[in-house]
Amino acid sequence: MTNAPSYLFYQSRNPRPFLDYGEGIYLFDETGKRYIDGSSGAMVSSIGHSNPRVLARMKAQMDKATFGYRLHFRTHPSEDLAAKTVAMTPEGLDRVFFVSGGSEAVESAVKLARQYALTQGQGTRHRVISRFPSYHGCTFGALDLTGYDPLRDPFAPMLEGMPKVPAPATYLDRDTLSEEARGLKYAEMLRDRIVELGPDTVLAFLMEPVGGASTGALVAPDSYYGRVREICDEFGVILIYDEVMTGAGRTGKFLAAEHWGITPDIVAMSKGFGAGYAPLGAIIARSTLVEPVLDAGGFAHGFTYAGNPLACSAGLAVLEEMEQQGLVENAARMGRVLMGELRALMDRYPFIGDVRGKGLLTAFEFVADRQTMEPLPPRLDAHARLVELAYERGLIIYSRRTRGGTAGDHFLIAPPLIITAPQIAEMMAILREALDAFAAEVGLPVGEAA
Ligand SMILES: Cc1ncc(COP(=O)(O)O)c(C=O)c1O
Repeated sequence: MTNAPSYLFYQSRNPRPFLDYGEGIYLFDETGKRYIDGSSGAMVSSIGHSNPRVLARMKAQMDKATFGYRLHFRTHPSEDLAAKTVAMTPEGLDRVFFVSGGSEAVESAVKLARQYALTQGQGTRHRVISRFPSYHGCTFGALDLTGYDPLRDPFAPMLEGMPKVPAPATYLDRDTLSEEARGLKYAEMLRDRIVELGPDTVLAFLMEPVGGASTGALVAPDSYYGRVREICDEFGVILIYDEVMTGAGRTGKFLAAEHWGITPDIVAMSKGFGAGYAPLGAIIARSTLVEPVLDAGGFAHGFTYAGNPLACSAGLAVLEEMEQQGLVENAARMGRVLMGELRALMDRYPFIGDVRGKGLLTAFEFVADRQTMEPLPPRLDAHARLVELAYERGLIIYSRRTRGGTAGDHFLIAPPLIITAPQIAEMMAILREALDAFAAEVGLPVGEAA
């Protein structure tokens, strides 16, 4: 069936087998081959596949109503999910607006920030600073905030060109600074940029607290986070955390922001929030931002499927499952196990230059030279090749180019939060086989230890 003609197209021609079913951390194709979902799809399937309690809740909702337009009815699933989300997030974030995906969440966060600024008589504030590299989505607004050249370049003439500051990739720095000083150095780059642009033109700063697709689980030094919050406060700049990938427990806290005790002004969520059971996302904002906008005539924004009761019933069941099974805590615990295993790979594979991440959002990056951190030659297409070698062996991992999309190869290992230590060992055994095969194929040296 794999070779059956297809009328579908996505990014590229990429023949894959037909999916049959999923179960826990595993997916099975129609030939019966089993795959470990080592990246939860695209960091989505956080509670694993085919969870019977979530499916039962969705079925119960389906039997009642699958759609009730939000201007015509309130629904219990959307109200209950909003309440649960607020209860699980840091104090101060207390109003929720639902969407169907990550790009929609990012766009909604930025538009809420803009409308709030207008209520404050700050109509000159229109610039949103983000980081390079970064990933915030593919729709035009979100793409303008994304730092990944191959996705952006074809559309560049059609984009406003929102300002960027460097992502805090301190593992590439060859200076003599301490990690703390490096964190502050990158935060000051934001301050300098705000001053240069004119603070009264800067609306918001958007950042992934732990990087995702474009940087490969990049974690900044601890000092960065608090200083960025201070800088935003100093200039009245709204701090938006894009937690589309990191939110809903992925990093071992419900929001990654909690690792540093930061309360952003707006948080964007998706991916693990619906966990693959329904297209679902949200922004969570301070009521001090939302109320003035509602008082001034309302939020001029919305999507047809926002607050869809079926999607919200799935989201509610997902969050309850996380709570009842202690999955956020498991992500922290298993994240430590996984990180230890990934670090050990560096003994055997000298072409792994860095291992990083938080909780079960982890990554490793290939380099030609650990001293200079020079990437492997782009022509090797290492990021694509290792993914194929792992896939052939029944392991799904996720990769991108690290250095702005044109060079560098990183691999995200982000299994469902239900994973156990024996399952991590099983996943690592396949990964080592794939790494050995890659090294042999391109003639890279391999050491003894594993
Ligand atoms: C941090 C982040 N923001 C936004 C998005 C866009 O989400 P979507 O693809 O659901 O529009 C993604 C998707 O990978 C993401 O990782």
